[in-house]
Amino acid sequence: MLESSLHFLRCVGCGSKLEIDAFMADKEIEEGILECKNCNLLFPIVEKIPIMWNDFPIYLASRRSLGGMLYGLAKTSKLKNFIKSSLSKTVHVHDDRTMLEERWSNIYQNSKTSKFYSVLKNNLDSVEKSRLVVEYGCSIGTVTSFLAEFHNTVFGIDRSFAALRQAKQLHKNNVDYFVSDILSPLFGSSKFDLVLALNILELVEPVELLNHVSKQISSGYFVIADPYDFDRGENSVKKPLDEKTLRTNLKNLGFEILSKTENPSHIPWTLHLNYRATLHYEVDLVIAKK
Ligand SMILES: C[S@@+](CC[C@H](N)C(=O)[O-])C[C@H]1O[C@@H](n2cnc3c(N)ncnc32)[C@H](O)[C@@H]1O
Ligand SMILES: [Zn+2]
Repeated sequence: MLESSLHFLRCVGCGSKLEIDAFMADKEIEEGILECKNCNLLFPIVEKIPIMWNDFPIYLASRRSLGGMLYGLAKTSKLKNFIKSSLSKTVHVHDDRTMLEERWSNIYQNSKTSKFYSVLKNNLDSVEKSRLVVEYGCSIGTVTSFLAEFHNTVFGIDRSFAALRQAKQLHKNNVDYFVSDILSPLFGSSKFDLVLALNILELVEPVELLNHVSKQISSGYFVIADPYDFDRGENSVKKPLDEKTLRTNLKNLGFEILSKTENPSHIPWTLHLNYRATLHYEVDLVIAKK
């Protein structure tokens, strides 16, 4: 974690400012704990990545093998003790997301050359150089690290530690990554000049996401891409949007849609699942501006 990021971070439980206890630091804080003195929540920093979950034992409960892995990765005894005591507080959950999150990180790694990313990058040309940028659901940081070449400070948010560990390999000194829930109040009332949400409408309630991001932009851009693949049984979001209602909702929130994305698009997004299976999506791109 970059020390400069502390200025932007808030406790995801109560919204207060945080204090840092760095156990190991060089150019970045490698290990430590972020502490909320108001509600006493603690957020560990492992492998330079802060895990901003309001209940760390609950985060670990659905990622049991990640817990053991984090313990192994921790270099200082203070962090090891913190992880160990959090593991002892976890309740047993059958589902372990660790392998799933690792598998998808590898799929995104093997799919970086998909046309979707080059078309998106070309379209981002129309966005002015920004002071503060956040990409929600950034996964392995393919787009986040590209954005860092043009904009001042860029943050990537994802709930997958495995994905952010890969993202962190593309080190840039103006990018920082946080494990957090997209809808959490991680940045308090900070305003962003550019927010991206790519292929996440199936995973985060779309209307809530739009409301959340709209509050974070007073003057700036909101870039959304999605294939509207909402049919996921009991895991489906409650209020899906389509290419028309997405644009209408954005307009109702005070955004205008850039004319080049006023009409729905079908950008090919190919995901290489394994050497015998490939997933082909057609993604719609919307660039909205306030
Ligand atoms: C379909 S992937 C898209 C990855 C990337 N945006 C792209 O287009 O290549 C969705 C990503 O969002 C993350 N994600 C899903 N729900 C989330 C949530 N509630 N909070 C944080 N991250 C979330 C997943 O871990 C995953 O990395
Ligand atoms: Zn707090």
